[in-house]
Amino acid sequence: MSKFFALIPAAGSGSRMGSELPKQYLSLNGKPMIYHAINTLYQSQLITSIFVVLAPSDNDWLKYDWSKFSEKLIVFLCGGTTRADSVLNGLTTAKKRNLLDASDWILVHDAARPCLTSIRLEKLINDLADDEVGGLLAVPVADTLKRSNTKDRIAHTESRENLWQAQTPQMFRCALLTHALHNTMNITDDASAVEALGLQPKLVLSDAYNFKVTYPQDLALAELIIQKRNNP
Ligand code: C5P
Repeated sequence: MSKFFALIPAAGSGSRMGSELPKQYLSLNGKPMIYHAINTLYQSQLITSIFVVLAPSDNDWLKYDWSKFSEKLIVFLCGGTTRADSVLNGLTTAKKRNLLDASDWILVHDAARPCLTSIRLEKLINDLADDEVGGLLAVPVADTLKRSNTKDRIAHTESRENLWQAQTPQMFRCALLTHALHNTMNITDDASAVEALGLQPKLVLSDAYNFKVTYPQDLALAELIIQKRNNP
């Protein structure tokens, strides 16, 4: 029986956030941001282990208490120069330690998506568990999309028909994802690597709560969402 593992690449610096502290450690409801993503993954009975991939030079992880997550949380100090490198290095390390089989499912989730709900997570797993390819959480684009020229003037309006915003987790079998990441460069998510093999990952409907904290104002919004969840 294939198992399900989560992998959180958390070796980025979060430069768009304009903070000295890497984004994954910014405080959100009294915890580092990554804590919230780990917590949702930890609560799922379907997930065997959560791998967190940190930069080899990480100086912050040990400043916090992770004991709640016990042995289900496994940390690797093998982050790379890009997100894809960090994911690939994490997969390679997990395989070297015999923690993973080729047919196991990997759910790659951004440290900077703290508002993932258990409902969406379980739906993703249930929808894809028998899928040939795998897939990801995503939301249909709601806004009208403008393509600009180099001077911030509208060059044209893009059709939003069949356009989705990709989120995470992105769920693929270990062997396929490893092969895909070995074969691509300049990608910003795992699905792109799989698409480059000519495959068509499935889009599983998510919601706007699972947004990526990227800019300073996003942090306040994430805080409101988590506060509301804790005190409904
Ligand atoms: O920068 P961005 O928000 O796209 O990063 C998405 C995720 O990839 C974050 O969790 C970040 O820590 C991670 N990442 C990584 N290694 C890198 C760059 C980004 O693990 N070299």
